[in-house]
Amino acid sequence: MTVIHVENIVKRYGNHIALDHVDFAINEGEILGLLGPNGAGKTTLIHALTGIIRFDSGRIHVFEKNLVQHLVDIKSQIGLVTQEITIFHDLTAKENLQFFGRIYGLRGATLKERVEATLALVGLAGHASKLPSKFSGGMQRRLNIACALVHQPRLLIMDEPTVGIDAQSRNYILDTIRKLNKQGTTILYTTHYIEEVQSLAKRVVIMDEGHIIADGTVEELVSKIHHEEKIKLEIEDPSETMLKKLRRIEGIKQVGLIGKEVHIISQAGAGNLDRVLAIAREFGKIYSVEAEKPSLEDVFLTLTGKRLRDAEEE
Ligand SMILES: Nc1ncnc2c1ncn2[C@@H]1O[C@H](COP(=O)(O)OP(=O)(O)OP(=O)(O)O)[C@@H](O)[C@H]1O
Ligand SMILES: [Mg+2]
Repeated sequence: MTVIHVENIVKRYGNHIALDHVDFAINEGEILGLLGPNGAGKTTLIHALTGIIRFDSGRIHVFEKNLVQHLVDIKSQIGLVTQEITIFHDLTAKENLQFFGRIYGLRGATLKERVEATLALVGLAGHASKLPSKFSGGMQRRLNIACALVHQPRLLIMDEPTVGIDAQSRNYILDTIRKLNKQGTTILYTTHYIEEVQSLAKRVVIMDEGHIIADGTVEELVSKIHHEEKIKLEIEDPSETMLKKLRRIEGIKQVGLIGKEVHIISQAGAGNLDRVLAIAREFGKIYSVEAEKPSLEDVFLTLTGKRLRDAEEE
């Protein structure tokens, strides 16, 4: 089943096109990483998908129903974690969850059970009666996520949920996402942290300036950019004979010697690391090996000429 199907969406703010003919789809059970720098249009896309803003043209189907025509029904099955934390600071953790649970029609024993289970899921069972103003940023974010999960949505949409929070909460959140996905929840996850996408999502959509510029698995995207692979070897006795032998391997573009370090540039995907090591071993001990493969960051750089994160955020 296609959980989200976006066709040709356009959203303008005055003269500025925030979404410029965007197409993409998510299948049931997927974790999709939506990656893009500031201002790419990620939040705008999420707001369009959840009926928060109107779009100018195109079509959106969620759960194979037209979003505009079935908005109320569709929204009842979505959990949305917005970019800004939205919780009530004058309600306890438990009361926050009760509030959101009631909005989704939960009452009585079911509500009680869901509130307890969801607090436990995000690791806040021991903090149920506390006010979130006493919480760390990471705990507030976990409560915020719980509020989006109390009604057991089929689709969870998260807009940069790990920005500016401590490593422990971040790992907790990533683990919670994996757990929910194993139970069948489809997840759209927005971030500008490449490592998170690589560890969570099989498929990645990259946005920039209102466009989708890449869509595929991490491996597919990396193999699309015909980047080079760098191999660095530190060996006992790097002789000229060995260098000559290395240069004869197919797909090897360059072999150089800097001190005792052999620097090799190979065509990416040629699988040359094993061949290089086999030859090097014939000539003595190998002290160290480093192989650098192109990453999603390289894909992004190649496609846009920009880095994903602004320098001051690193
Ligand atoms: N309400 C609005 N009015 C005018 N312009 C807007 C509005 N909302 C967003 N924009 C513009 O649309 C573009 C996309 O913004 P959006 O918030 O979707 O980006 P984003 O990818 O979520 O960025 P970030 O990573 O910073 O959250 C930006 O140029 C932004 O300035
Ligand atoms: Mg945003």
